Amino acid sequence: MNIAPAERLTQLPAYLFAEIDRKKRAAISAGRDIIDFGVGDPDMPTPDFIIDRMAEAIRDPANHPYAHGLGIMEFREAVGRFMAKRYGVEVSPVDEVLALLGSKEGIGHMAIALVNPGDTVLVPEPGYPVYASGTIFAGGQCHTMPLHEEYGWLPRLDEIPEEVRRRAKVLWINYPNNPTSAVASLAFFEEVVAFARKYEILIAHDTAYSELYFGEKPPSIMQVARAKDLAVEFHSLSKTFNMTGWRMAFVIGHRDVLAALSKVKNNLDSGAFQAVQHAGIAALDGIDRSEIRGLIDVYRLRREMLVGGLREAGWPVTPPDATFYLWAKCPVADSMRVASRILDEADVVVIPGAGFGPTGEGFVRFSLTVPNDRIREAVARIALLKW
Ligand SMILES: Cc1ncc(COP(=O)(O)O)c(C=O)c1O
Repeated sequence: MNIAPAERLTQLPAYLFAEIDRKKRAAISAGRDIIDFGVGDPDMPTPDFIIDRMAEAIRDPANHPYAHGLGIMEFREAVGRFMAKRYGVEVSPVDEVLALLGSKEGIGHMAIALVNPGDTVLVPEPGYPVYASGTIFAGGQCHTMPLHEEYGWLPRLDEIPEEVRRRAKVLWINYPNNPTSAVASLAFFEEVVAFARKYEILIAHDTAYSELYFGEKPPSIMQVARAKDLAVEFHSLSKTFNMTGWRMAFVIGHRDVLAALSKVKNNLDSGAFQAVQHAGIAALDGIDRSEIRGLIDVYRLRREMLVGGLREAGWPVTPPDATFYLWAKCPVADSMRVASRILDEADVVVIPGAGFGPTGEGFVRFSLTVPNDRIREAVARIALLKW
């Protein structure tokens, strides 16, 4: 019997990473020594103080039932402490915090909670694909906001046509940014808040890389006065604490939006395992511990090795200010061709920028989730390629 998938699946944009994925798998099965800068998944383990808390929490039967609602109160209070300590921002644990099964889940489900068929959603491009896929699943229309290097990889709000501004329901932004690694200033967030207030658009800020930065701490959009009236902000424990597989994140801000999202979640996923929420409390409270702060130094050294090595090989790269990505300008224009040649001839995986949207053309993304000796080896191999 032929079972056709729902049409909404056919409406997703073409998956441009498929070709690189296929080649990578073939190379690995052929026994080649692949160095993978493709995945944005930390290569270091979750720190022990978080695992120890998990081990204790998992033995407590009180943590075994379904976790309906906004998340356990202790987790939401820990989020309140974290936001106060890191940003000087106050959020009420009662109704301005919602625990998520990873921020991807919340980003996707938010479209189901808010977007009606035909609604317009403003989406950055190049960008993390889930803002668009969630919108498409909800029957909404994406209006893409191109990000360009000359504007610091920030969207040009003045270029959004008037009729689009008037009908837009949600505006997605993501800083520190994947894939460009750009950081936004508080002044930019103030501009976005003023724009959204004028056109009555909800701002959805994804700040999954908030704690991975090499200079000054990047701001939260909640530092803008009265941002909670019109914004939500997604935070993730995945990258900061090496916890990608644990699925723990949270969203803060506009209480009605959080209530709507919680309603969707209560119908579809029943919440994050409470033991993981307890481990999440240990993580958030431990943000200043050396195990966590030390990770930045690891990524900083990797960044220096990769940037230095690529520059010596003639690549015109700029060091990232934040995230664990290097968004590298290609030595020749076609990012798919560059990524393919690097894989075929150097056994190194990078992600072609065009896979994040057409404006990503001309760049490839390296993820700094590879140890030093492998970075050295990869750079030596890449240096042998003639463009
Ligand atoms: C920009 C951005 N947002 C959100 C996520 C999702 O992270 P998680 O679902 O693990 O919280 C990712 C993961 O790669 C990301 O790059």
